[in-house]
Order: sequence, then C-alpha cells, then structure tokens
Amino acid sequence: MSRPRIPGADLELALACLARGEPVAFPTETVYGLGARIDSPRGLERVFHLKGRPRAHPLILHLAAARDLERHARNIPPLAWLLAERYWPGPLTLVLERSDAVPDAVTGGQPTVGVRVPAHALAQQLIARAGVALAAPSANRFQQLSPTSAEHVRAAFGDELCVLDGGPCRGGIESTILDLSGSAPRLLRPGLVTREELEPLCGPLLEADAGAPRVSGSHPLHYAPRARVELAAAGEWRRALEQARARGERIAALVPHEVVAAAATSDPDVVVLPADGAAAARALYAALHAFDARGCERILAVLPAERALGSAIADRLRRAAGRG
Ligand code: TXA
Ligand code: MG
Repeated sequence: MSRPRIPGADLELALACLARGEPVAFPTETVYGLGARIDSPRGLERVFHLKGRPRAHPLILHLAAARDLERHARNIPPLAWLLAERYWPGPLTLVLERSDAVPDAVTGGQPTVGVRVPAHALAQQLIARAGVALAAPSANRFQQLSPTSAEHVRAAFGDELCVLDGGPCRGGIESTILDLSGSAPRLLRPGLVTREELEPLCGPLLEADAGAPRVSGSHPLHYAPRARVELAAAGEWRRALEQARARGERIAALVPHEVVAAAATSDPDVVVLPADGAAAARALYAALHAFDARGCERILAVLPAERALGSAIADRLRRAAGRG
C-alpha cells in the first residue's frame, strides 16, 4: 500500500515515521536528506539498507542548533565555533572528534563525526520536534545523483518512503565538508561554502587524502546520473554532439556559460550553466536529473573554471564521469 504524500506543513506523520524507526526524506538547503533518529538503531539500519550504502561509510549528523554541537563532539577547536557562528545554519559540514552520544552506526566506527545545522525551515522543525539529532545521507541510492526535489526522491525510492516535500532545494549541491579533527583543516568535499571564503578564516586548506578517512563521495564513481557522463573539451563538445546525434544516439551536453552564452543556443539538448555560481550549482543536478528523465544515454560535460563554486561543480562532474 502506498503512503499518503505529506504536505510541507504537516510534520506529524514524518515524526511518527521517525519514532517507529522508519527513515524520512526531508528537504535541506543543499539536497534532500534521508534521515533517521540517531537513537534509533532500526532507523539507522534502514537508512543504510534503503540506500544500499556500505555500513562503514559515515553519515552526517543534522542538528537543530549550533549549541547542540557540544553534546555530539569533543575537543571542539575555537575555529569550529567561529565557523559555526558564521555559517550555521548553512551548507558547511564540520568533521570533529565524536562524543559517546554518537553511535558507531553513524560514524562507521570512526573516531570522528560530521555535523551541520541545515538552513531549511522544514528540516529545522523536524529536528527540533524530534528532539534528537538526525543522521542523514543524501536521499539517493548509493553512487547515484543527489535529489534536489521531492519528485527526485520518489523517483528513486517509490511511494513507500515518507517524503517531506519542501519544493526544490535552493542550494542544489551538497555541503562543503571540512575536517577539523586533524592538525590542520582539510577540505574533504568542495561545496557551497567555497575554499576562497574559508581560507581567510582557516588558513590554507589541505586537500582530501585519497582513501582516508572514508568519504563515500570520494569513491571514483559518485553523484552519477543513469546516463554515461563524459568530460569534453570546450573546443570539442559541439562536434562530438553533432556526430553522436547523426548516429542516432540520445545525447545531451552540459556546458558552462564561458563556453557558450545561454542566449546563443536554442538547442534543447544543450544546457548552459549560468554565469552566477549559485545559480549554476542550483541548475547542475536539476539538469542531470532532467537528462535522465528524458532517457538520454550519454551526457557530454565541459568543466567550468575551477574557482569558487566552479570548483564544486567541476568536482561533481568529474565524479559523475568516474574521474574523481
Ligand atoms: O549537503 C549535504 O551534506 C547533504 C544533506 C542531506 O545534508 N548530505 C550529504 O550526505 O551529502 P552524504 O552521506 O550523501 O555525504 C556525506 C559525506 C559522505 O561522503 C561521508 O563519507 C562524509 O560525508 N562523512 C560523513 N562523516 C564523516 C567523517 N566523520 N569523516 C569523513 N567523512 C565523513
Ligand atoms: Mg550522497
């Protein structure tokens, strides 16, 4: 039997699902999350099971407010409080030494925990009313594209899942992950809070170490649509697109504004990412989901210039192409 859709304003059903140990998909400012109460072993198990995610890949804790950090982390450095003050609620995940309040199932047994306070009214109400932190990966199956609308979540999981519908996410790509548990801050995943914004506060950021710690987003194939993504050079994508179309392939292209002005193409198979970084981030997964929905087999992607939000967009496209 399919579950009734939950109107955005009605949290009661979502809270009841969480209390029964059933995951709930909820909107955040970045992408939709698939949440469980951290005090519900059954809920956490169901999250891993539904996603098909390896149990050792840690989940992000979503808190109602920065003050809840103290309960979930230990040896919190002053920089963490400064960043929390500046960016929370918002799309920055901090990796810190975990406290005993965080179960092993959330951290994959690691000594650290990723935490953030999402900037979305529905997410905040859900967490506050649950009265406990929610552990939530993005609400997609393992290695697939993150959902930026309730429809994307339903397309991945069907009507069985409780989905709190908050409309399209305004951020559009996942949070920045900054590891503050080591001797110097390390950027584990570029995101909506950019390196350029963080470095004046944090000093130079170390790069993510391949392999350790386990960041599932650092798996070579991740954030991938069903269609095969291929990276193309700015001077080559157009010819490759024409040739593939001539062979009858269902192909599309995703190109940054610096390669072709949006006004200069009326080709329905070409999506041009806007010049504004935030708008480009918002458009990225929406375009990839739409290509999938249209039944595209291949997507040619041209990487944007790698500065500010362009770095996060290029990171996701490289991973979608299996070149992470
Ligand atoms: O914007 C976001 O961060 C979204 C929304 C729902 O909040 N969440 C999200 O979760 O993208 P997920 O699980 O799809 O990606 C979280 C990443 C994973 O790559 C995970 O391995 C990493 O965060 N992570 C979580 N805890 C960690 C830890 N203690 N150390 C290193 N990486 C960690
Ligand atoms: Mg994910």
